[in-house]
Amino acid sequence: MAKVQAKLRNTIVTAALPYANSDLHLGHIASTYLPADILSRYLRHTGTRVVQVCASDDFGTPILIAAEKAKRLPAEYVAYWRKRFDEDLRALGIEFDLFDRTSSPENIELVQHFFRKLHTAGYIYSANVDQFYCEFDKKFLPDRYVRGTCPYCGATEQYSDGCENCGRTIQPGEILEPKCSICGRPPVMKKSLHYFFKLSAFSGRLKEWLRGNDNLQSEPKNYVLGWIESGLQDWDITRDIEWGVSVPLPEAAGKVLYGWFDNHICYISAALKAARVTGDSGKEFWNNSTIYHFIGKDIVYHHYLFLPSMRLGEGSYKLPDYIPTRGFLLLEGRKLSKSRRWGITVRDYLGSLPPDYLRFYLTRITPYAQTDANFDLQEFKSKINNELIANVGNFIHRALIFVARDYGLVIPKPDEDEEAERTLVQAKSHATSETSRLIEEGHYDRALRSVLDFGNECNRYFQTAAPWEKRRGAVTAVYHSANAVSSLAILLEPFLPFTSREIWRQLSLQPPLSSLPWQSARNQLLEPGHVIVAPKPLFKKVEDSDIEELRKYLQK
Ligand code: 2FM
Ligand code: ZN
Repeated sequence: MAKVQAKLRNTIVTAALPYANSDLHLGHIASTYLPADILSRYLRHTGTRVVQVCASDDFGTPILIAAEKAKRLPAEYVAYWRKRFDEDLRALGIEFDLFDRTSSPENIELVQHFFRKLHTAGYIYSANVDQFYCEFDKKFLPDRYVRGTCPYCGATEQYSDGCENCGRTIQPGEILEPKCSICGRPPVMKKSLHYFFKLSAFSGRLKEWLRGNDNLQSEPKNYVLGWIESGLQDWDITRDIEWGVSVPLPEAAGKVLYGWFDNHICYISAALKAARVTGDSGKEFWNNSTIYHFIGKDIVYHHYLFLPSMRLGEGSYKLPDYIPTRGFLLLEGRKLSKSRRWGITVRDYLGSLPPDYLRFYLTRITPYAQTDANFDLQEFKSKINNELIANVGNFIHRALIFVARDYGLVIPKPDEDEEAERTLVQAKSHATSETSRLIEEGHYDRALRSVLDFGNECNRYFQTAAPWEKRRGAVTAVYHSANAVSSLAILLEPFLPFTSREIWRQLSLQPPLSSLPWQSARNQLLEPGHVIVAPKPLFKKVEDSDIEELRKYLQK
């Protein structure tokens, strides 16, 4: 197996595809979409060609049931959610080159190609298995079509594929006192032809891949290796429902593929579509890119086992280089739960507060690890007010006010640098390399911390130079401070794109900020004589009333 390759100039960034049956909530953003976006934005400053894609995860029993309940056609139903995802993500500054759908013609074609190739290679076999069947509704009842009592903890009203109470996966046929979730009658068992993926055949190759890839985090890697050691089960990849990718075999009419067979293939179909490459050139593009799949820790099994083994079996699409995996987001110390109405959606949040406040706080509290982060409303307020506004916001506004008021909006010509200026320039250079190193290592929380450290340094410099005292050196202090502002705009851009854009506007700088080289954060971008526009405060403090507004969404 090839060792990890040197970094390639093309990078594909994907973020786990949201199920098209409910709005995005803050947990999705913290673990997956925001980290993916920070990386993509940063990489674009390094001259890397980035293709960042996502899609709605359209197929599967839960979505079909939800569409039936809403009395909508499944295709119409998923389109509604997809539009909302797109709007919410854009409003948070999370911009994908393409936000596709797993039900796209390109994806269906590629999924069927994977199926055929794996089937021909002997990695997919069929067997007649017992399935729940409702004689009243005349249909097979996979997964959520059956409710009953959990055989492990006794919780009632659980779906037949997993228990929400104890978190265990329930195997087909194991649920106690099963009932059809459409008509409530007890189902019977009936044989159906199903297709199975030989996951067990990949144990050796998966181990080799996991052990040989130093980019994967050791925590998930180690527990996945543990699962492999204890023996992998083959995987039932078909369902007897109408909503899904049809199994491309004449003898399998009416059967579709399980959602987890098709959804991750959309990473490939969407990336190739976004890069506008097809056929062999598509494969070439994919195989010559560094590939990141951002996920939350609940889908490790699928991304560290199903996904790589399907690619290994198909044989022509490169495996991921990175699968950045982060923990859950707790809200005020409690797990998010739809049924218990404990959660804040992106829409809820954006109705009250600016997107960059959320990006700032979530980045600050989410480590590059499986540890859960906690969204604490009071801490949110204090971090925004004390770290973002009092530190960065305050410095930037003060520095620009001096350019405006004392120099008529014109960057003044500095005198000779002294010790204080040399220290500031050094801090700027340190922040540029440190932030970049930490982003490349996946530690976005610490990377943002390092920009804040530079912000503190700037405040210290400004306070000590005290240009308001109009001593010798005031002009130099204003020149250096304004230039530190332009560096902050670049260093903050991956984290706070809206704020950075506003700083850029106030500085009246021409080149688009998003494509400016990262290393230019070391430079003095504002030359003496450059004219800025009238500064405005960048932020407004978070008030208790804002927090109360957010709290209302809990237990509505
Ligand atoms: O767990 C989920 O929400 C899934 N919809 C994630 C799919 S990611 C992928 F692999 F497509
Ligand atoms: Zn029924």
